[in-house]
Amino acid sequence: MANGIDDKIKLSAEILAKSKNAVVFTGAGISAESGIPTFRGEDGLWKKYDPEEVASIQGFRRNPRAFWEFSMELMKNTSAEPNPAHYAIAELEKMGIVKAVITQNIDMLHQRAGSKKVYELHGSIEKLKCLDCRKEYSWEDFSDLLQNSDIPKCKHCGSYYVKPKVVLFGEPLPSTVLYQAIEESRRADAFLVVGSSLVVYPAAELPYIAKSNGAKMILINAESTVADHIFDVVFYGKAGEILPKIVEEVKRIKSRI
Ligand code: APR
Ligand code: ZN
Repeated sequence: MANGIDDKIKLSAEILAKSKNAVVFTGAGISAESGIPTFRGEDGLWKKYDPEEVASIQGFRRNPRAFWEFSMELMKNTSAEPNPAHYAIAELEKMGIVKAVITQNIDMLHQRAGSKKVYELHGSIEKLKCLDCRKEYSWEDFSDLLQNSDIPKCKHCGSYYVKPKVVLFGEPLPSTVLYQAIEESRRADAFLVVGSSLVVYPAAELPYIAKSNGAKMILINAESTVADHIFDVVFYGKAGEILPKIVEEVKRIKSRI
């Protein structure tokens, strides 16, 4: 394991520059510098809210209003912009190094930063869907309601079980996306994890799948995780500061080849 930060930057850049199939796996921590709160760690959302009540399918069916109050608090940051970490990953894809991004995030900031191949394991806030009649909606369909902090009601069947197409606790992950993400992790020869506590399954299984198939493992996280021991390089710090430095080093290596 490399020790000084410069050694780690060099080693990470060499791993990525030499790779044929680098895959990136991200969690809430990569969007923290965009102003979106994380779930765990110091001031994580789960210290303030009970995930069972505001982020589980059982909680949603029991009381959709609690879910919407939590979501509105979170969505207040919809003006969130991609940060240098998102752009660094998009640049590595443009350089032909990163072949796919697998994210647990629902904020679509990877796509807005220019990443093309993005697997959203937990869905995204792009669209909403009625759980009863399956009708799909865009946010514009309910903009007035949400402004008056009322909760969306299905215009087709009258149900209050209208929610963004995100995966809540107790719901299955989109099977095709999960299958593709497992395949990408299996094929990866370099696996870069950014901003995840790696405690929520089945997403958290993916780094272990990559490791067991021989990938070189890099972790960038603000604090230690339960999986640090499976990584070849571990950075404790801010993704928005570390990732651009790795990209600069990759460019230096590529210009020498
Ligand atoms: N740079 C890098 N890492 C950071 C930064 C940063 N600027 N800020 C915070 N972190 C780290 C935190 O230390 C934490 O370990 O990001 C990690 C985020 O962990 P979680 O909040 O647990 O987020 P995540 O791993 O994505 O959670 C997985 O749990 O609640 C569910 O569905 C939700 O997708 C989410 C899933
Ligand atoms: Zn409906």
